[in-house]
Amino acid sequence: MKSTTVDRHIGLLNLAKTLSFLVVFVAGVVVGMTASSQINRYFVSQAKLYFYSNMNNHFSAMQIPNPALRNCSSEANLTHGFSDNELFWRASMVPRRAEYPFKRVPKVAFMFLTRGPLPLMPLWERFFEGHRKYFSVYVHALPGFELNVSMHSAFYKRQIPSKSVEWGTVALAEAERRLLANALLDFSNERFVLLSESCIPIYNFPIVYKYLINSDYSFVESYDDPSRYGRGRYSRNMLPNIKLYQWRKGSQWFELSRELAVNIVADTKYYTLFKKYCKPSCYPDEHYIQTFLNMFYGSLNANRSVTWVDWSMGGPHPATLGAANITEGFIQALRNNGTVCPYNSEKTSVCYLFARKFAPSALEPLLNLTSKVMGFKNF
Ligand SMILES: *[C@@H]1O[C@H](CO)[C@@H](O)[C@H](O)[C@H]1NC(C)=O
Ligand SMILES: *[C@@H]1O[C@H](CO)[C@@H](O)[C@H](O)[C@H]1NC(C)=O
Ligand SMILES: *[C@@H]1O[C@H](CO)[C@@H](O)[C@H](O)[C@H]1NC(C)=O
Ligand SMILES: *[C@@H]1O[C@H](CO)[C@@H](O)[C@H](O)[C@H]1NC(C)=O
Ligand SMILES: *[C@@H]1O[C@H](CO)[C@@H](O)[C@H](O)[C@H]1NC(C)=O
Ligand SMILES: *[C@@H]1O[C@H](CO)[C@@H](O)[C@H](O)[C@H]1NC(C)=O
Ligand SMILES: *[C@@H]1O[C@H](CO)[C@@H](O)[C@H](O)[C@H]1NC(C)=O
Repeated sequence: MKSTTVDRHIGLLNLAKTLSFLVVFVAGVVVGMTASSQINRYFVSQAKLYFYSNMNNHFSAMQIPNPALRNCSSEANLTHGFSDNELFWRASMVPRRAEYPFKRVPKVAFMFLTRGPLPLMPLWERFFEGHRKYFSVYVHALPGFELNVSMHSAFYKRQIPSKSVEWGTVALAEAERRLLANALLDFSNERFVLLSESCIPIYNFPIVYKYLINSDYSFVESYDDPSRYGRGRYSRNMLPNIKLYQWRKGSQWFELSRELAVNIVADTKYYTLFKKYCKPSCYPDEHYIQTFLNMFYGSLNANRSVTWVDWSMGGPHPATLGAANITEGFIQALRNNGTVCPYNSEKTSVCYLFARKFAPSALEPLLNLTSKVMGFKNF
């Protein structure tokens, strides 16, 4: 009898406890829901505000990317309408998934930095012929200049939005980064080679492609030049971030892996120092990438260029070669002059894939040698 009263008492107590828990729980849920709906409303209205206020400029472009951006492997439209800031930001993104949501054939991006026309284009057209799946072309010309090419050309609609470039100034390094960033938007691009209107290929496409795609290293010439043309261009204003012993010099004509290209486009800290202090007579295009790679990615750089250039004449500019220079023997010597170069863990007689500088008059004799000497197919 007594025990049942106690039991009932305990039972009532438990019921009261359960009820009070329930009340607290329900109250909590109600408070929570109200709060979260307010938060939701807050965010929605913020997003709306942001969206509407930016409808007509960059925000709408970011939300509704053109097909070239939606299709990460697309050959399509290069007129994206991004500012440099937006472009570099977008280009510095790296997917963390190893698999791609499309069939990815790694491509080589051929990036032409030019003032105007590309007089050696017919040679490049032959080089690219039949390999469309394996490359993409980007052209940075002066604003207002338009390449006039047929729909079947590898250069058709491959001009990127450009800005004016004064040679020897930071605008040149900026143009290089703009080319890299545009090419990075295509996730298929795996290697990035910078070329000028006076560059030529000296091997056929399959050899160039394999050489670059299979390389463990990027090909950026980078060395310590103690003279006034090297260390002499360093500015102590770059301290403490860049020290004199880290300063490097090298040819502007680089070849980069995707990993290094992303890191260069993502860098603002060191680039800003170059922009501020690498002037005058400093030439950021010969020092920025070279120094940056030396500081952080030296072990991924072969430290040599794959673009041959003739400095034998001395002076500040390399020799320009014309029709009179183009013979079978001359091109053979560029392809293999008896020197061997390190390639991954091996050695190869192929040190250079490209060469410069060639005058327009070199075109005809070069076209004459494409099948016999350079090994292009079908010509
Ligand atoms: C996406 O890219 C592929 C390969 O370049 C192309 O064949 C396809 O038409 C593109 N699709 C769109 C929607 O742009
Ligand atoms: C390329 O994209 C821009 C901006 O989205 C658009 O104005 C232009 O018409 C497009 N051009 C082609 C050929 O699709
Ligand atoms: C482009 O090239 C074609 C064929 O070579 C020529 O007929 C046309 O006039 C050129 N257009 C311009 C704007 O130069
Ligand atoms: C290139 O130079 C860096 C120093 O910046 C060095 O660490 C690296 O081993 C060199 N690369 C090769 C392939 O020797
Ligand atoms: C190219 O030809 C010019 C004129 O004939 C000559 O002076 C120069 O040495 C040649 N350059 C090379 C690398 O053969
Ligand atoms: C071959 O090319 C390398 C690199 O440019 C150069 O150092 C070397 O002197 C050349 N050798 C000959 C025999 O011309
Ligand atoms: C092309 O090669 C042929 C035979 O080797 C030669 O007769 C001709 O003069 C060459 N043409 C040019 C423009 O070099």
